Amino acid sequence: MLKALFLTTFVASGALSTAAYAAGDADAGEKLFKRCKSCHGIVDGDNTIVRGGRTGPNLFGVIGRSAGAVEGFRYGDSMVAAGEAGLVWTEEALAEYVADPTGYLRSFLGDDSARAKMTFKLRSGGEDVAAYLASLSPMMEMDGDGAGESEGSDSN
Ligand code: HEC
Repeated sequence: MLKALFLTTFVASGALSTAAYAAGDADAGEKLFKRCKSCHGIVDGDNTIVRGGRTGPNLFGVIGRSAGAVEGFRYGDSMVAAGEAGLVWTEEALAEYVADPTGYLRSFLGDDSARAKMTFKLRSGGEDVAAYLASLSPMMEMDGDGAGESEGSDSN
């Protein structure tokens, strides 16, 4: 009796949290990234993880970063405004953005004239691409090989 009650509560709260945001599948996201790389590379300093086009900013470390923050990239005004207004890329925000960049910026800024310079929409799988990009973000590597700051010390 008590056990049944416990189980029901457990299942119900589990269902609630997945409904809020279902984390994506990084392996599926890596495959989907083929559709991004005509415009975006993933480059960590000297280490090119994915060689890509230059129409869009480098997406290395994008999860956890402010919108519009890659040095030297010419973002659209709306993206700059969103970054200034506090937009930081979480997996959830990125998944929503790639599904409809202009729509996302309009609702974030509450401005119907906002426009994204990104002309591509990913109909489904945004959460998978977000999980893949998160897996490459420096902050997520902390418990990997431990050494985060070995810049320039490679000796092979
Ligand atoms: C046709 C070229 C193109 C494609 C394809 C494309 N993007 Fe973009 N992306 C851009 C451009 C251009 C911007 C800059 C947008 C702006 O300034 O409004 C951008 C911006 C972004 C940003 C914001 C980055 C930042 O520094 O704030 C993210 C995140 C992003 N793209 C993810 C993706 C993902 C994931 C895919 C694949 C599913 C993708 N893009 C496909 C051109 C593209």
